[in-house]
Amino acid sequence: MLVLVTGGAGFIGSHIIERLLGSHEVICLDNFDAYYNVEFKKKNIEPFLANENFKLVEGSILDKSLLRELIEGVEYIFHNAAQPGVRASVTDPLKAHEVNATGTLNILKAALDSKVRKVINASSSSVYGEVKYLPFDEKHPTRPVSPYGVSKLAAEHYCRVFQEVYGLNTVSLRYFTVFGPHMRPDLAINIFIRRALKNEPIEIFGDGEKTRDFTYIYNIVEANLLAMKKGKGEYNIGSGKRISVNDLAKKIISLTGSSSEITHTDSVQGDAMHTWADIEKATKELGYRPEIDLDEGLEKFLRWYKETNV
Ligand SMILES: NC(=O)c1ccc[n+]([C@@H]2O[C@H](COP(=O)([O-])OP(=O)(O)OC[C@H]3O[C@@H](n4cnc5c(N)ncnc54)[C@H](O)[C@@H]3O)[C@@H](O)[C@H]2O)c1
Repeated sequence: MLVLVTGGAGFIGSHIIERLLGSHEVICLDNFDAYYNVEFKKKNIEPFLANENFKLVEGSILDKSLLRELIEGVEYIFHNAAQPGVRASVTDPLKAHEVNATGTLNILKAALDSKVRKVINASSSSVYGEVKYLPFDEKHPTRPVSPYGVSKLAAEHYCRVFQEVYGLNTVSLRYFTVFGPHMRPDLAINIFIRRALKNEPIEIFGDGEKTRDFTYIYNIVEANLLAMKKGKGEYNIGSGKRISVNDLAKKIISLTGSSSEITHTDSVQGDAMHTWADIEKATKELGYRPEIDLDEGLEKFLRWYKETNV
């Protein structure tokens, strides 16, 4: 079976490819955007290059004629290409919109025209934004607090409408802060571990009382595989637990035996106050169960980080 993974050279996309390659032919579409070090992305896909079931296409989801060509014969699309990062979207809201909203619309239109069986769309907890109650279930109002959140919400709505109006099977997985090997260098766990291992100060934006639901990458990949077979609409894919950024930093300091101090700086515009996933819907309808929790995930990530960086 032929599948397409967009953003396949990125953190999450490359993990999805690793799992799919055992039993599928995979096309990876990625434009190697320079949002962070492109060498990391090249390394992510390096192990797949010799696999005859893997095909790398360097190109953009904004290139409609390329998409038409590529999607011919594809049965499932794991759509992970995006301009990620809340802060990046505050600096450049047009790019976030173009890649995340228009790019997703291009994927859906091409998928519809070539009779793709299902599009599994990578969405985000950022669609919730303003907190009315916690944990967030899927009925919680969506009022994003960043251009990124708005662009991901627009993408979700396009997925829903393509299902309702045109009958294209779609599902949007709302990932909650994902971590693990190959994770993006701009994300907190990566920065904190990097600093802790050098005994450098760990700088937290704001007072550190923001809370996050951190989800280990293995759980995210499992959810994608489940969503190939079941589900439509939106699902929270988180750990179902939350921790404050202060407590996360303390945990990392203790795990690494570091002498780093915690410091605080101005909070960042567009950052949500809290994220916390109610995963009941995903558990009931997809059979999703986050097998690896924060502590086990941190140990795994630290082991990988030391093997590859220290
Ligand atoms: N990492 C997280 O914590 C997290 C949380 C919620 C949602 N998400 C979503 O998950 C998906 C994957 O995120 P990630 O953390 O792996 O980010 P990532 O930046 O590592 O991966 C995204 C990939 O998309 C590629 N890309 C960007 N613009 C493109 C374009 N125009 N055409 C083709 N490829 C393009 C990039 O080069 C990159 O390799 C994104 O949709 C993101 O919004 C991530």
